[in-house]
Amino acid sequence: MPDPIFEDARLAPLYDPFDPDRSDLDAYVEIARTSGARRVLDLGCGTGTLAVRLADEGCDVVGIDPAGASIDVARGKSGADAVRWVVGTAEDAPTGWADLAVMTANVAQVFLTDDHWSATLKDLRRALVPGGLLAFETRRPETRAWESWAQRYAPTTLDVPGVGEVTQAYSLTDVALPLVSFRLTHTFHATGEVITSDSTLRFRDRTEVEADLLGVGLDVEDVRDAPDRPGREHVFLARSRPWSVRPADADDAGHLWRALAHAAGWRSGDVPVAGLRDDDALARYVDGWTPDQGGVVAVDDDGTVLGAAWLRLMPAVRPGYGFVAEDVPELSMGVEPPARGGGVGSALLAVLLERARRDGRRAVSLSVERDNSTARRLYERAGFVRIGGAGGADTLLREL
Ligand SMILES: C[S@@+](CC[C@H](N)C(=O)[O-])C[C@H]1O[C@@H](n2cnc3c(N)ncnc32)[C@H](O)[C@@H]1O
Repeated sequence: MPDPIFEDARLAPLYDPFDPDRSDLDAYVEIARTSGARRVLDLGCGTGTLAVRLADEGCDVVGIDPAGASIDVARGKSGADAVRWVVGTAEDAPTGWADLAVMTANVAQVFLTDDHWSATLKDLRRALVPGGLLAFETRRPETRAWESWAQRYAPTTLDVPGVGEVTQAYSLTDVALPLVSFRLTHTFHATGEVITSDSTLRFRDRTEVEADLLGVGLDVEDVRDAPDRPGREHVFLARSRPWSVRPADADDAGHLWRALAHAAGWRSGDVPVAGLRDDDALARYVDGWTPDQGGVVAVDDDGTVLGAAWLRLMPAVRPGYGFVAEDVPELSMGVEPPARGGGVGSALLAVLLERARRDGRRAVSLSVERDNSTARRLYERAGFVRIGGAGGADTLLREL
């Protein structure tokens, strides 16, 4: 259910008058131009300013927004007939249609739960052609934008054509990070009517968003500044690819064994899974694993498993090679040989580490042989640091 500010028929027509400077949209027009996009999906298009501009540039545009009152404002704009308007959500996006999908003006922050956000990203990826681009922005939580909103949104009175004088006043109502809530109060002077609109936004950091994109099958191509708001926003450009990363469940144990065989046999080729099961020091990495400890599987769009990564909590009396503490799980991973070198390993790692962070884990450890330089590079890029070692192997730790 969109906020009244977008959904209420008396408030939606105020959106453009109270926010007339849309130079923030120039960057998206530029992305459409440079990517050569012909078909553009504008999710959360609101009053349609960008959709109309892109149609004017010659793009075929679908503008989707659940707020019918905002779409009504959009439909009234000059050039609006060239856009296909849909009152709906990402679920209503056409499949395999768009070269480019966009969410402008922080639409990404309206999805408050992980499930809603992830389902929306999956729908956006479904809406893209293979190799299509998703571009959107989100405010950086570390800049704590809400602390300066009271100053930026001081009460303002405008004479709105056809409505008369309206005063818009802002107040911060709650900060319960990662959620921030605020209220906009509109006073219509001609009638004395006062209408409030309450909104809540979710702030996600860069690592979190990157992991979510990688998980749903979108490669992060670039993370840039919004040119008009340097240092305050992240603009993500992510490209659709034909595989994704999903949580591992109890039925995935066979895939974990296979991945363990690839990991254990990195030097010489595969170690047979049967041999692994007899090797107690290795078998413990899968024996006793349960989905709540954490695990992810990379799967291509045909359902073929490309690799797996998982966490194993071990007791001090029966530790793994990279044991650090009973509450620090040890990570294992393996990628099928034909899928190597294509980003599967780094996507598995990013998604698994982000899930572990959300599960409240403080750190993750692993053991890697000193001369396994490919694996070491992968782990170091993901933020693991060496904390010890024995024999020919090092123990690495990644704090979360
Ligand atoms: C800040 S406005 C941005 C509008 C427009 N993109 C712009 O640049 O002006 C946020 C928009 O997100 C829309 N929205 C809210 N919930 C949504 C959902 N579940 N799916 C898509 N859009 C949603 C709102 O209706 C609103 O139009």
